[in-house]
Amino acid sequence: MIAEYRKMWEARNWMKKNEPFLPTWQAYVGYRLDLFEKISRGATIESLVDEYGYEENLLRSWADTGVVLGHLKKEGDKLVPSKKMLRFFSRKSDDTVGELLTELFEMHMPALMNYPEMIQSNRKEKFNGDDFGKTVAATSALIEKRAFGHVAAEIDAQKPNWVLDIGCGTGGYLMKLAKKANPGTFVGVDISKDCIDEAREKASKQGLDEKVKFYYADINTWDVPNGLFDVVMMNNLLHYYSPDARESLFSRVAELVSKKGTVIVITPLYLEKGGLRFSAAFNSFMEAHENLYPLPRKEELIQDAAAAGFKLKSVKTVVREGSWYCMSFSKK
Ligand SMILES: C[S@@+](CC[C@H](N)C(=O)[O-])C[C@H]1O[C@@H](n2cnc3c(N)ncnc32)[C@H](O)[C@@H]1O
Repeated sequence: MIAEYRKMWEARNWMKKNEPFLPTWQAYVGYRLDLFEKISRGATIESLVDEYGYEENLLRSWADTGVVLGHLKKEGDKLVPSKKMLRFFSRKSDDTVGELLTELFEMHMPALMNYPEMIQSNRKEKFNGDDFGKTVAATSALIEKRAFGHVAAEIDAQKPNWVLDIGCGTGGYLMKLAKKANPGTFVGVDISKDCIDEAREKASKQGLDEKVKFYYADINTWDVPNGLFDVVMMNNLLHYYSPDARESLFSRVAELVSKKGTVIVITPLYLEKGGLRFSAAFNSFMEAHENLYPLPRKEELIQDAAAAGFKLKSVKTVVREGSWYCMSFSKK
């Protein structure tokens, strides 16, 4: 009897542990179909079914869940979104964080759910960055917002003429730096043509073509267009390199940066205090892919950099609970 009661209690605990997932799911579905926006124009279940051909009972259940959670309310037959859900989960809102949930539900969860099969079959998935380009760009931009202050402080201290961002993506850091009226020239290199095309377009729209240059190339083989750089950044790049290849990456950077230069590395760190849970989950996602690699541990990173002739200057927190840090190195 006691054993059975214990079993029921344990099951109840696991059920309760999963309950906090419900608001995330409700928000994700609302963002995915832009339902918060659609109901903001005054809609009922029936009018949504008529207009978009939605399955009525599924929609009703989603709406009922939203009411329970306070994400929406009912005024008669009409559904009304809360101000918060409309602000953060309407696709057209400047403040939307919906892509974060898209990343969770469409990239991370499927990979984590395939773990049993992958463990048994010794088969990993292949990450196709192009499928989730917009999602990854949006979530990276959130990190960029938090990390930019640290980068700007390094640049202010260094007053560089020639700055390189390896794996620059769509060039957010470089363009922000260029706009801050820094005197230097800012160079981005990325192996993704889509990213470089978008970065060039953005730079051109903002009149930054002269100050910011983008190159579509692999950093390992890139033919550097000019002399040594004063600052080299590698932001969220290390999980594209196997742990064995990271020392060579730093050696490559050592060839590109001047004697008094600075190397800035923004990255999640594995199992760093404060970010244990997030980094464990994020690392599991990396491990599920044959072309992504485990997150670096802080000590490993310092060792790889040291082997290539760099010493650690500073470690600044970007998102503590996300285990995200901004580290800077100088030549020994
Ligand atoms: C996660 S994104 C980070 C983008 C940006 N640095 C940021 O922090 O927002 C990593 C970028 O590194 C690029 N990348 C990966 N390997 C590379 C290589 N060998 N040479 C140049 N870029 C590379 C990818 O194409 C991708 O755009």
